[in-house]
Amino acid sequence: MEKYVIHGGQPLHGRVEISGAKNAAVAIIPAALMVRGVCRLENLPQISDVDTQLRILTYMGAKVKMINPSTMELDCTNVQIDNLPEEMWELTRRIRASYYLIGAMLGRFGEAYSTMPGGCNFGVRPIDQHVKGLTALGAEVDVSGGFINARAKTGRLKGTTIYLDKVSVGATVNIMIAAATAEGRTVIENVAREPHIVDLANFLNSMGADVRGAGTDVIKIRGVKHLHGGTYALIPDQIEAGTYMAAVAACGGSVQVANVIPKHLECISSKLREMNVQVEEGDDFVLVSREGMLRHTNVKTMPYPGFPTDMQPQICAVLCCAPGVSVVTEGVWDSRYKYVAELKKMGAQIQVEDQAAFIQGVGHLTGATVKACDLRAGAAVVVAGLAAHGVTKVEDIFYIERGYENLVGKLQALGADIRCIDEPETPSARGPVRWAVI
Ligand code: EPZ
Repeated sequence: MEKYVIHGGQPLHGRVEISGAKNAAVAIIPAALMVRGVCRLENLPQISDVDTQLRILTYMGAKVKMINPSTMELDCTNVQIDNLPEEMWELTRRIRASYYLIGAMLGRFGEAYSTMPGGCNFGVRPIDQHVKGLTALGAEVDVSGGFINARAKTGRLKGTTIYLDKVSVGATVNIMIAAATAEGRTVIENVAREPHIVDLANFLNSMGADVRGAGTDVIKIRGVKHLHGGTYALIPDQIEAGTYMAAVAACGGSVQVANVIPKHLECISSKLREMNVQVEEGDDFVLVSREGMLRHTNVKTMPYPGFPTDMQPQICAVLCCAPGVSVVTEGVWDSRYKYVAELKKMGAQIQVEDQAAFIQGVGHLTGATVKACDLRAGAAVVVAGLAAHGVTKVEDIFYIERGYENLVGKLQALGADIRCIDEPETPSARGPVRWAVI
């Protein structure tokens, strides 16, 4: 089993280049399904979720041509959605973003079929707002047996006004994609405002769509009959950048986090400044450093432009070593504290009650063998291991590799003592060995 082995305790120094945004890529790739032509996508992150999305489209007949590791040409001219193989459904069950296929298939073919999505386990992850929006656009949507079936009643979706009951990134994305080729005008109220929502809108517009207002809480779309090919470069990943900023906060040192949009990081930068971390903004980088002691603070995660929920585990890992008591409140997900048990193995003093984690800072954490419980939980235990005294082994790193390109290489370039090893599972990890009766 592949693991990270981290000898913690060193400050980080140097420059790290941020890759393209995962949550933009996993929305834009299915959206390309609607383009009759070649989409050239640049600044794609080399992560397993992108690979999974591309493999799904390939099963549908899309042609993928890699120009270089972060640039590809995707041709969906001849895709079809009949008789899709079981191997494809194994992939759609793996990731959350597979449900964007529904919006894209409806927009292209007037009908759609896919499995319920997978993704990180934060408790209940309903899709009622997706169903509400697609139904309002004139689709009949059936969710049963682990599959989602949808069909435009008149053969083509019709624009309308939709008010989302909950701010939802996924529902905003799915409805935007479907509405891009619907007949007439669609207004979506109470939408998500994340940077990757704006990136999707810009991608759709570069392919001939007419999407306005992304980044505000109202998006207006005039449907077009077809989308044409084009070139689009994705924005940098806000959460990858925030994770490296958190690592510097935890370890100390000074790092230039490059190829970012500082505006997207403001919520993270201001919180780190409260914690006695210095953050200076350049045009396309932030310089993060910490020399003095960390300061405790309180955090509440919110939809953008609030403090991002996808940075909650990482900031908790940093606050474990901030003297005093910090309170972190999870404002988006029902249950996003599974990683706390792993941090406690490293000596963290954290008490979780409902949506709040009460963190009593300790002098330092101590290395231990821990698991990545999900993508950002895995990032949190890496941040903790980088700062801890001693050796930390991180298991189940496949979660982390869903969303972080070359994490080990990027951290090694900053002076971290981290490496990836392939080690057989320890028997205790699986419980007592049961000898086969022969
Ligand atoms: C996206 O998930 C991201 N994933 C998540 O990032 C992120 O945590 C989340 O947005 C919030 O920013 C991708 O973009 C692939 P939501 P999504 O719909 O779309 C409720 C990562 O680490 N809700 O914005 O699934 C829901 O239960 C991942 O990169 C409904 O009630 O999140 C939650 O409480 C983890 N009904 C809230 O809304 C719905 O129909 C926000 O969910 C949909 C959502």
